Amino acid sequence: MTAALPPMPRHLPPDRLASLLRSAPKSELHIHIEGSLEPELIFRLAQRNGVALAYPSVEALRAAYAFADLQSFLDIYYAGASVLIEEQDFFDMAWAYFERAAADQVVHAELFFDPQTHTARGIDIGVVIGGLHRACEQARSALGIDASLILCFLRHLSEDEALATLQAALPYRTMFIGVGLDSSERGHPPQKFARVFAEAGALGLHRVAHAGEEGPPAYIEGALDVLQVERIDHGVRCVENPALVARLAASRMPLTVCPLSNVKLRVFATLAEHNLPALLAAGLCATVNSDDPAYFGGYLNDNLVASFAALPQLGVAEAYRLLRNGFEASFAPDADKAGWIARLDAAFAAAA
Ligand code: ADE
Ligand code: ZN
Repeated sequence: MTAALPPMPRHLPPDRLASLLRSAPKSELHIHIEGSLEPELIFRLAQRNGVALAYPSVEALRAAYAFADLQSFLDIYYAGASVLIEEQDFFDMAWAYFERAAADQVVHAELFFDPQTHTARGIDIGVVIGGLHRACEQARSALGIDASLILCFLRHLSEDEALATLQAALPYRTMFIGVGLDSSERGHPPQKFARVFAEAGALGLHRVAHAGEEGPPAYIEGALDVLQVERIDHGVRCVENPALVARLAASRMPLTVCPLSNVKLRVFATLAEHNLPALLAAGLCATVNSDDPAYFGGYLNDNLVASFAALPQLGVAEAYRLLRNGFEASFAPDADKAGWIARLDAAFAAAA
């Protein structure tokens, strides 16, 4: 069941709806912090740390951001992360994201990070988590953003490596709230990570997983049944299995949808063909997120505004529903969610 709508205009002209989308408070639940590393910052950190890059300039690097699929993106994304060496680098990366998020009126953010991308290069996991955590603390005190971290396992690596990563992160257990599963989806089903997700659950960590981005609906079922996840990241391929759609709707299982990412990685040919309206019409708890904003052409407001411009089925009610879902699907305490939703309701009422 979904709650009744609060007072709000039935219709708004596109420009006024876009400005309401921009100004409303919002929650971001699917952002890979390494995917927020802008080319300018990659070059600055490369210089600071004496790391050689394969591209001669910021422009040349940005020009390489034309992807055929998820793997072609991941290759360049992991290369970009190679400039992160010191704790301050991880802080600077996350802080740059938080400044952009604040401009987008993000009040709550749950950040994915990929420790194995860094530990494989000899970086201590404490350096990674320490820098990111310090940025989260400063986001709260200086920007009023409630931020937390979700540690992701790289699914192209083995489960034993994921288990070792979880073990290595335990001294920093209070600095992250959950675990996730990302990287190359095809050929790496959720079942591969059953033990490490069970262990994370026993530690009281939240569990999420990418599924149904490029992979089949069966991977969404595997994430639910085997990994016991509380949210599905992407999940857009669920529509290929009506029984699964019904199950996701009945359980109000959140899907963290990333429209610009899906177009850049060719999950959908154009934004106008995205199934976000169909997901909402099916009663699914869809949310809008930015995934890897430095690589996919935009942050959270860009995703929202571009989606609503391209998809005329989306109006005021859908805007409210998506933003409200973002708060409801978060791992924040209920009292915090209620406070943010009251602010959201006020923003929509004021738009009348
Ligand atoms: N890592 C960063 N972005 C990702 C995505 N869209 N899918 C899977 N793994 C990722
Ligand atoms: Zn993602």
